[in-house]
Amino acid sequence: MTHAFTQLLLKWNTASNHRPMPWKGEKDPYKIWLSEIILQQTRVEQGWAYYEKFVNTYPTVHDLANAKEEKVLKLWEGLGYYNRCKNLIFSARYISKKLNGVFPNNYESLLNLKGVGPYTAAAIASFAYNLPYAVVDGNVFRVLARFYGIHSPTDTPQGITLFNKIADENLSKKQAGIYNQALMDFGATVCKPSTPNCADCIMQKKCVAFLNNQVNQLPIKVKSITRKKRYFDFFCFYNKGKWLVQKRLEGDIWGGLYQFYLNENKSLAPVTVGYLNEVLAHQLGISAKELTVHLKQTKGVYASVSPIYHQALTHQFLQARFILIKFDTIPTLFANALWVNQKQLKQLPFPKIINQFLGEDFINWCKT
Ligand code: ADE
Repeated sequence: MTHAFTQLLLKWNTASNHRPMPWKGEKDPYKIWLSEIILQQTRVEQGWAYYEKFVNTYPTVHDLANAKEEKVLKLWEGLGYYNRCKNLIFSARYISKKLNGVFPNNYESLLNLKGVGPYTAAAIASFAYNLPYAVVDGNVFRVLARFYGIHSPTDTPQGITLFNKIADENLSKKQAGIYNQALMDFGATVCKPSTPNCADCIMQKKCVAFLNNQVNQLPIKVKSITRKKRYFDFFCFYNKGKWLVQKRLEGDIWGGLYQFYLNENKSLAPVTVGYLNEVLAHQLGISAKELTVHLKQTKGVYASVSPIYHQALTHQFLQARFILIKFDTIPTLFANALWVNQKQLKQLPFPKIINQFLGEDFINWCKT
């Protein structure tokens, strides 16, 4: 038996779903995989250009497998969640070398790929091979919770089991790929989280939430995430057209990306002479004579300090400031550090919060 929901969704898809996207209808599992990894936690508008860049730069899984990690990270720059990119490279190498480039063609073997969870495996299985696996994520929870008027929370084990069961029952087994893409599109363009377009919705007469005026109450979540606050002072050490940069280690956010010398604090208090001394002289052992801080001091606050930049990650809320420190000669301590010129600086992968700051203004700021 086909559910009313499924019929209405497929009808809507044929009649009213005008959402062109470059991966839609794609049958090459490699390209579908690329698109799905890019779209994990990324809006379609943002992911689109990245997808095209990746497909053009690495048209086959072998091209991606043979690429240098730093080059791929650079292409990924701005998307965040850099582990997604590293898993992408890892899996590309696995498919290219261990599977001779033959992409896994069933749900279980897709799920075995690093970085591929149930949602992505279902998306690839259904889009590339039309296998009957339903995609289930926050968008699907929302659409189903509203249509069926489900008040079970979407973030408890019981709720998740229930939504998975309903998602599975509603899947069109014959047109799994078309159904899954339609559901994603419907959630993104009609049954949106806020201001859903109920007035024009094909499901209106059957939608329990609409009939009970509960659209804005559903879906229900019990937990709300708390974000840890972190405060970063990036010290931009500069000497004769070159900046000191460091590659971040694994184990914290942004492993493998680059940064300026980082001093993490409990808050961002004004940058005073005392603070600069604390970091430069005590922490790093740079003597006063090695140091030329070319910046005007106004009321104890250095004008060489950037405004505060913000970035929200899933579990962290970051605030960052950049402090320019110019050296006339490189302190001994930094003799073997990585010093890069403007061209190299532009080629290295940096976290978004640093890139926001790294425009021409920054270059001029350093050179004056
Ligand atoms: N989000 C994840 N996968 C998607 C897809 N195939 N189309 C649109 N949005 C998506």
